[in-house]
Amino acid sequence: MLKLAGIAVLAVGSLNPLAVPSGACEVSGMTVSWGFKESFRSYISGSIAQGQWVVEGDIGYETPAFSFSDGQGFVSPDRSAGEVSFTGSLTFEGHGGRLETTLANPRVEFVDPRSATLFLDVTGDTMEEVSVSEDNVAFASVSWGASDVDQVAGIWGVDNATVVLTEAGSKAFGTYPAGEELDPLDFILQASAGCLQEKLSPWGVVGGVAGIAAISSLAALAIVRARKSREQGRQ
Ligand code: HEM
Repeated sequence: MLKLAGIAVLAVGSLNPLAVPSGACEVSGMTVSWGFKESFRSYISGSIAQGQWVVEGDIGYETPAFSFSDGQGFVSPDRSAGEVSFTGSLTFEGHGGRLETTLANPRVEFVDPRSATLFLDVTGDTMEEVSVSEDNVAFASVSWGASDVDQVAGIWGVDNATVVLTEAGSKAFGTYPAGEELDPLDFILQASAGCLQEKLSPWGVVGGVAGIAAISSLAALAIVRARKSREQGRQ
């Protein structure tokens, strides 16, 4: 169960780097906790690569997970769109310097209320000896089931989301094929108080539009009937 009290770790504050579209909720703080891939961390720190990882900026590490903190951006009240960006980097090193891969400036783009894409800048050589230096790689797809929303406080939290390497992520990082499952990810996000919808309507916007259309046609029918009865009254 997600601990909403964990919001204490969210840093609130600096200027939002992303323009907040009208109607969206401003995100003043988001923290992501993600181990990247447990087997890769073991490989790096173990006897084969004999390496380490180095974190910088708003990316930290506490066994067994990296944290991206102070994410800023926006999200729609129904959580079907939005993006939050972070600054900082993590660099994996090993094999006496022959392995040095940096993943930087994460950005989370919400695709729908239950999934997002994680973008990363990727720099380094893959194990297949391809040199990569590419910003904004759509690195992984993130998806989840239930989530916790505190509507009044504007807090949204997701625990244990599934993270899968994309085709672009596989190309940039190497070794792992697209579809490879990475470590699960948790996030907690602070949006403007009262802005997020608590529950998502199962029929959503389509239901709303259909509802308005139905009400309009009932009103039109009533006007036609009223006119007819007035005309009949005059005859
Ligand atoms: C001197 C160059 C390198 C050598 C000799 C080497 C060797 C190896 C070996 C032996 C394994 C198998 C480990 C196991 O089965 O536990 C492995 C796995 C792996 N290597 Fe390398 N490697 C090299 C460079 C790189 C580079 C530059 C990358 C780039 C990121 C890389 C990424 C990986 C990955 C992702 C795995 C899979 C780890 C896992 O999840 O089990 N390697 N490597």
